[in-house]
Amino acid sequence: MSTETLSTAEGMTKAPLIHKGKVRELYDLGDRLLIVVTDRISAFDYVLDPPVPDKGKVLNGLSSFWFEQTGELLPNHVIHTDVNKLGDLVADSDKPKLEGRIMVSKKAKRIDIECVVRGYITGGGWKQYQKSGEVNGIKLPEGLRKNSKLEQPIFTPAGKNDVGHDEDIPFEEMARRVGRELAEKLQELSLKLYSFGRDFCAKKGIILADCKFEFGLIDNEIILIDELFTPDSSRFWADENYKLDVEIDSMDKQPVRAYLENSDWDKISPPPRLPDEVVAATSARYRDIYRRLTNS
Ligand SMILES: Nc1ncnc2c1ncn2[C@@H]1O[C@H](COP(=O)(O)OP(=O)(O)O)[C@@H](O)[C@H]1O
Ligand SMILES: [Mg+2]
Repeated sequence: MSTETLSTAEGMTKAPLIHKGKVRELYDLGDRLLIVVTDRISAFDYVLDPPVPDKGKVLNGLSSFWFEQTGELLPNHVIHTDVNKLGDLVADSDKPKLEGRIMVSKKAKRIDIECVVRGYITGGGWKQYQKSGEVNGIKLPEGLRKNSKLEQPIFTPAGKNDVGHDEDIPFEEMARRVGRELAEKLQELSLKLYSFGRDFCAKKGIILADCKFEFGLIDNEIILIDELFTPDSSRFWADENYKLDVEIDSMDKQPVRAYLENSDWDKISPPPRLPDEVVAATSARYRDIYRRLTNS
């Protein structure tokens, strides 16, 4: 992988930009989408400077790898990831900058639910459990500790909100919103995908603590969309770091979070520029999880 970074693809294509997320940009290709994964990095809801070399390639490469691996379980949105197939949508001189960072996908009608599966109790799930002994309305046994493995993975959906934060909802609320039949199907698919990812990661010495999926519909068929088992959508723990009661390093932007937490930044004013060594350490970690999962 190279050290060139991409902070935006704006201006590189004639296709209209329809969504600019913190990390990804979506361009409209009619019944298709051009997804560009940039090297931008966010923490505490801010996009930081400078971008992190290879981060976009790792995220896009992992999604693409996993979509292939799970193709037998269910269909997904991927059409191709080849810049050379973009034709005159992108100038030849810009194609190398987008290499490895794009996914041309089928445009689906998004189902506005984040389908979260947790195999371990941590993060937001742990917060809920401490307050109520439940996660998204699911009663869990007493005496669990932070990072405890759950006897069974649980499905804990969240409503996707375009503004503000996603909201945890009980399964029954999801069933009201999307219909019971679809909700049950999505729950079943999510649990299957989680088991697949968990078992695959286990062979690589990695614990898949939890993860999020998004689904869409094309002609009433359910397909997997967005990104899959990336550090942005999943929590990966290296076996050797697993411990109860602590905050386990999640193999992604830990160096950035640690740097910001230890700086005097108030999380309100513009964030400080990341020092070179923090950027380099973060980049190395993204490449490391990619290598560990894909053996390449
Ligand atoms: N194949 C697809 N069809 C329709 N929408 C999609 C597809 N793939 C991803 N999306 C949507 O594109 C958006 C990607 O944006 P993203 O960069 O994740 O930012 P955010 O999650 O902050 O909105 C998400 O809203 C996702 O649901
Ligand atoms: Mg997203």
